Amino acid sequence: MIDFQNVIDTIHNNLKDEVNRGLVADYIPELADIDVQNFGIHLRLLNGQTFATGDWNKKFSIQSISKVLTLAMALPMYPENLWQRVDVEPSGNPFNHLSLLELENGIPRNPLINAGAIVIADVLISLLENPKEDFLNYVREVVDDHTIEFNQKVAESERLTGYNNYAAANLLKAYGNLENDVDVVLDFYFHQCAIEMTCEQLSKAFIMFANHGACCLKTNQLSASQAKRINAIMLTCGFYDEAGEFAFEVGLPGKSGVGGGIVALLPNHFTISVWSPGLNMKGNSLLGMQALEQFTSMTKLSIF
Ligand code: DON
Repeated sequence: MIDFQNVIDTIHNNLKDEVNRGLVADYIPELADIDVQNFGIHLRLLNGQTFATGDWNKKFSIQSISKVLTLAMALPMYPENLWQRVDVEPSGNPFNHLSLLELENGIPRNPLINAGAIVIADVLISLLENPKEDFLNYVREVVDDHTIEFNQKVAESERLTGYNNYAAANLLKAYGNLENDVDVVLDFYFHQCAIEMTCEQLSKAFIMFANHGACCLKTNQLSASQAKRINAIMLTCGFYDEAGEFAFEVGLPGKSGVGGGIVALLPNHFTISVWSPGLNMKGNSLLGMQALEQFTSMTKLSIF
């Protein structure tokens, strides 16, 4: 049996005093003041055992990690037509890149780049009665924690500076791939990104992907096949133009966010969340990537 507490404590010790920690995202002004020294790790095994170290219990902005959760909510409700509106190919481009969208007639490359997530937001708005509230309740139910909230200041900060996302949404609308108004769709999208969670809550939220879709949801649970597909998309698209590097270094399906969180999982085994707000040039947590590389190397637990 692996001594998981020892493994994550060792990784935390190896990296906690690192000077080169990357840069905190400041294109969303409200995120610019987060202390770059924060660093937490939380591991949850499928049998319910948990291991944690560092700042695992502090809330942070999950940002793009939310894209996996909106996809997981939308897919069981819209299983047939979803893949006609968004593709499943890696983009090889940054998360906010626009030129491929125009080249490919408004069909985003995948649901984890911004344009793809904006289409999924539109799908949910069309399907849900109270979209923001219903999605927040879905996340709360998956984690079994009703304290999870949107950070309204972060959502508003992104609304005021989200020029790229307005461009993407307007292109999608022009190509007929948004049913709802651009402002309504982006309001939902900025709020989903502004959800705050701890590493512990994230590890719990992602258990369904490690568990063939099964979790505590009473309705709208993913099928095993849908969970398999979402894991494949995380592996190939979860880190944008660094997805190959993440597969090469870490070897797990996962998802990053510009708040500095990364969550990754090994089906049938565990979920692991890391938070360090300093980002590398590709917008992924610099220490987070290193911590997960050390974790899969030390434990030899990866999909490869
Ligand atoms: O739309 C944006 O730019 C942000 N709300 C989310 C981007 C993000 O987290 C990219 N991930 N690494």
